Amino acid sequence: MDTARTVVALRARIRSWRAAGDRIALVPTMGALHQGHLSLVDIGRRRAHRVIASIFVNPKQFGANEDLDRYPRQEAADAELLRKAGCDLLFLPPAEAVYPRGYATTVSVAGLDRPMEGATRPGHFDGVATVVTKLLLMAFPDVAIFGEKDWQQLAIIRRLAADLNIPAEIVGAPIIREADGLAMSSRNAYLSPQHRAIAGALFRTLQATAATLSSGASVPDTLSAARAALQSAGFAVDYLLLADEQTLAPMDRALPGGRLFAAARLGSTRLLDNLPVLPA
Ligand code: PAF
Repeated sequence: MDTARTVVALRARIRSWRAAGDRIALVPTMGALHQGHLSLVDIGRRRAHRVIASIFVNPKQFGANEDLDRYPRQEAADAELLRKAGCDLLFLPPAEAVYPRGYATTVSVAGLDRPMEGATRPGHFDGVATVVTKLLLMAFPDVAIFGEKDWQQLAIIRRLAADLNIPAEIVGAPIIREADGLAMSSRNAYLSPQHRAIAGALFRTLQATAATLSSGASVPDTLSAARAALQSAGFAVDYLLLADEQTLAPMDRALPGGRLFAAARLGSTRLLDNLPVLPA
């Protein structure tokens, strides 16, 4: 597996693959890779001849008080994982290759960036939308793969690709979970052993809540019982809601396309999760 650190080097490699008629998949990441990321590479391998993974800890998607400085960085270990997973090229640009001096453009996806994560992380989705647009334009992949754990991010990326006529197919990949149900995330590394021991309760509570909602129970009552259960397990709940999986508009009863979304904190670690709610 080769590494490209500049857009020129990335495009040179892509040009040679295109000349051979290869389909290309892109897996954008911020590194600190886990099985979830490797499942994205695997999907890429099934859908294209060549898989490019990018690792770029994008400063524009971190707020002033967020974890940009302590975000886990482990490039050598990540490169080895990607190589073993069958990735063909690692794109590892330095910040100045992505945001050169004088950089001034922001991509903003209005509306979808407002609820849930957008309510507490102002500017976060502008940062995500901007860097993902740039990566899609740098590589022009046939397909780009993103994890469903960050469902709102995925919805925003689908919207921007459609709105900007970016021809890549945007594919969502199912959440990969630890044995106790905790959705894999690079930020799980921040959990203390005590918090890690209870973190699986988030998924179990969501599963039970989704089943109750599917049986036709009241949405507000069910959600407030779930919030209380999470709080007594030790979580600080940022949000727990039922919403349409495409528009992200809240739902007051379980309808087709409904999805349960949660963000909850254990200490300073924020966990996100979501799962579908099938109407009865
Ligand atoms: O999900 C992520 O890791 C990041 O938000 C992404 C899509 C790579 C953009 O920086």
